[in-house]
Amino acid sequence: MLVLGIDTSCDDTAAGVVLDGRDVRSNVIWSQHELHAAFRGVVPEIASRAHAERVGVVVRQALTEASVGLLDLDAVAVTTRPGLVGSLLVGVAFAKALALGRGLPLLAVHHIEAHAIAARADHPDLEYPFVALVASGGHTALYACRGPREIVRLGQTHDDAAGECFDKVAVLLDLPQPGGPAVSKLAATGRPDAVAFPRFRAEDGAAAFSFSGLKTSVLYYLKGPGGRRDAPDRADLPVSRADVAASFEAAAVDALVGPSLAAAAREGVADLVVGGGVAANRVLRRVLVERAPAGLRVRFPRAALCADNGAMIAMRGAELFARGETSPLDVDVDPYAVD
Ligand code: KG4
Ligand code: ZN
Repeated sequence: MLVLGIDTSCDDTAAGVVLDGRDVRSNVIWSQHELHAAFRGVVPEIASRAHAERVGVVVRQALTEASVGLLDLDAVAVTTRPGLVGSLLVGVAFAKALALGRGLPLLAVHHIEAHAIAARADHPDLEYPFVALVASGGHTALYACRGPREIVRLGQTHDDAAGECFDKVAVLLDLPQPGGPAVSKLAATGRPDAVAFPRFRAEDGAAAFSFSGLKTSVLYYLKGPGGRRDAPDRADLPVSRADVAASFEAAAVDALVGPSLAAAAREGVADLVVGGGVAANRVLRRVLVERAPAGLRVRFPRAALCADNGAMIAMRGAELFARGETSPLDVDVDPYAVD
C-alpha cells in the first residue's frame, strides 16, 4: 500500500511517500524559516502564499524521490487539523484535487496524532498500546495511544509549548530561530547546574506541563532587576550565556521527563513514544532513556520525522486506510481541533 502524505499546517511545506504504513520512501520538506525570520514568528498570510507556490513542487519531488508516479498511489493523506487555517486550506485543496483527478481515496489526518505515531517508521515492532509525548512549537501534550481510533489526550501544557519556550529563550539569548537547535548547540558547551531554574511540577504527578514560568525566570535572570532571586546561581564561577542555555535546557527537559514517565507508569505500557520538533533534542533523548525504569522502552523517530513532515501524515493515513476508513471530498479544515 503506497500512500502520499501532505502537511501544510504551519510554516513547512511537506510531502512524503510511505509503503505499507511504515516504510518511508521519501520525505521532502521545504522550510519557510527564511521568509518569516525578520518577523520573529510565523506570519500566517506569508505562510499560506508560500505553501500555494510550493506544494506542487514538493509533492512532485516526493514522488520522484520515491520513484513512483501518481498512478502508483493507493491513497492520499493530508493534515486537516489543527493548524493555521490558510495554510491548512492549501494542502487540503491540493490533496482533494489529486484525489478527485486520480480517483484516489482521501484521508484526513490529525497532525498531532501523526506526530504521536511517527516513531513507528524506525521501530516497526512498535504496537499499541503506548504513551506518546508530543512536544513541538505549538503543542506539548501526553497521549494514551490505545488503538488507531483510541488516541486519548491525558494532559497538556497550561501555557507555552516546550518548543515555543526554546524559541523565546533563543530570542533572549540573541540566537536565531528556530530556537531549539540554536539553544541546544550553545548549551552543549555550558554547565547545566550553573543556574537553578524552576521546574514546574503538577500536583499528584498529573499529566501537565508549564513553561511560561521557566521562560520568565530566564528573562529575569538575564535582564530583570533583582530577577536572580528566583534562580540562584553558583557563586564559584561567573555564569556564561552557554551556562544559562544549558541550565535552561536541563530545566525544560526535566519538566518534560517527569510527567511522561509518570504517565507511562500509570498507563502500564511498555513503550513511551516521543514526537514533535523537540523530540530531536539530544538531552531529552539521553535523560529519558537514563531515567526510564526497567521494562519501559523509549522510542524516538529519526530527526527528519520529529519536525513537521509529510511521511508521518502518510503513515497515519495508511493506518486509517487499512481499517477501511476514507474521508469525504468535502471534508473541511479544523484549525483549532483538540482531539
Ligand atoms: O514539530 P515542529 O517542527 O513544528 C510544530 O508543529 O511546532 O516543531 C518545531 C519546534 C520549534 O519550536 C523548535 O525550536 C523545536 O521544535 N526544536 C527543538 C529542537 N529542534 C527543534 N527544541 C529543542 N531542541 C531541539 N534540538
Ligand atoms: Zn508539528
